[in-house]
Amino acid sequence: MFTGKQKLSLYLVLLVLSSSPLAFGQSAPKTEFIPYQSAKPIVEAMGDSLPQELKAAGNLDATKWSAWVQSRDQEIRDRLDRGEEDTLTNLLRFGVTYTKEYRIDDDYLVRYGNSSLVNAFAQSRADDLVRALAASNPPAGLAEMKSFLLNKGFSFNTPQQRAVVKKYLLDNLARLRDEFLKYRAQPKDEKRFQLFQDRGISLDTNLWPDYQLDAAFREMVSQGLLKPGSIRRVAIIGPGLDFVNKESGNDFYPPQTIQPFAVLDSLFQLGLADPATVELFTFDISPSVNAHVERIRKNALQGTPYIVQLPWNTQRPMSDEYRHAFVAYWEKLGNQIGAPVPAISVPAGATGTSTRAVKIRAQVVQRIASPVDMNIVYQRLTLPPEQAFDLLIGTNIFLYYGNFEQELARANAASMLRPGGFLLSNGKLPDTVASGLKDVLDAPITSSVNPLITDTIFCYQRVK
Ligand SMILES: C[S@@+](CC[C@H](N)C(=O)[O-])C[C@H]1O[C@@H](n2cnc3c(N)ncnc32)[C@H](O)[C@@H]1O
Repeated sequence: MFTGKQKLSLYLVLLVLSSSPLAFGQSAPKTEFIPYQSAKPIVEAMGDSLPQELKAAGNLDATKWSAWVQSRDQEIRDRLDRGEEDTLTNLLRFGVTYTKEYRIDDDYLVRYGNSSLVNAFAQSRADDLVRALAASNPPAGLAEMKSFLLNKGFSFNTPQQRAVVKKYLLDNLARLRDEFLKYRAQPKDEKRFQLFQDRGISLDTNLWPDYQLDAAFREMVSQGLLKPGSIRRVAIIGPGLDFVNKESGNDFYPPQTIQPFAVLDSLFQLGLADPATVELFTFDISPSVNAHVERIRKNALQGTPYIVQLPWNTQRPMSDEYRHAFVAYWEKLGNQIGAPVPAISVPAGATGTSTRAVKIRAQVVQRIASPVDMNIVYQRLTLPPEQAFDLLIGTNIFLYYGNFEQELARANAASMLRPGGFLLSNGKLPDTVASGLKDVLDAPITSSVNPLITDTIFCYQRVK
């Protein structure tokens, strides 16, 4: 039996443990490939839409499945390289820190190649960008792009080498134009949830999905789906790393990840999670994203806060209702997790950008676990019931995949949720095969892009 003094010590130890940085601190939990038994019902249901190589493999078994899954996992990871090319092209189109030239917006993009005016400013943007990349100590975002190019074998030492880089940049611009025209021509039906299935995988991120998630949480609370204090373990699938996003390509602040903190901010504000005990995981295939998360959490363990810039494009077409609700969200964003600090000023070229910045407390950043390298399409964590997740978030990620891959991702997500836990996504997931996830609420919100259509956060709940 414990004496009164021993009981007090034990209580103090437990108290410290319950609010200390995450105990799993050092090593991330191990992922495993989706086992054949779990994939089998999906494979069998897919019929003709099964990937060709799988059909050709004949009678599948666990060994064949495992070999196939591992090669496909690598193919998906290889798409990150093309995504980096897209990021570089967005930097060429929109960057404001290295040039004073016009931005290549969508209207100009489609005229690239046919208009001497657009060709001229694309050329001069490319010259300015090559010059900035060639500098000996470029700022963080440019430095990331430079090492991407150096790793691909490009050099900046001689005029000839720089001309090769310029050609590469302009070839990518032409490729992006062709892809843009193709996507623009596609019907905006259910296929929009798989829009990028042939594209490179980008890391770009912005505040729109975080605002939509906040609205969805509120709706879930009002419908009694989420209860106060009900979320302790949450994972962000594909948090992203913002440096030059696809929409306006702001490049005036260092690479940052926002979604994990925006989600925590919403959960704290609604009383859904306790700041002292919440555990936040990130799952991503990108080494850059994972390295960034690891760096900021290690810094936080030394007491260093994390500053995020919160820019948004005020010129994006949106209804008054959407704008009003978004601004109300944006003005308070970060209040639960930190305090406002002066933002990096918006350069003159970034017209229509509003911004503010928040310093996130180190104690909040410490609630992030070591990042998990995971391909949600083919991988999962096998967890004991007490470690299953209460909430998984995946926005602007599933649209990079087709039907079969989305079915697998859905099954993987389901396997990591506790009964009653939720997966939230702005992509609709196919449900040909029972995954254990049921669609409990489509939280609609007037679209920011086209006021006549509706964006939706889909809420899937793991059935008991
Ligand atoms: C376009 S960003 C979206 C970022 C953020 N969720 C948002 O909505 O703004 C896509 C993110 O998902 C990650 N990702 C893409 N496919 C993935 C996969 N199969 N498994 C895990 N992460 C993936 C990318 O590396 C990137 O971090």
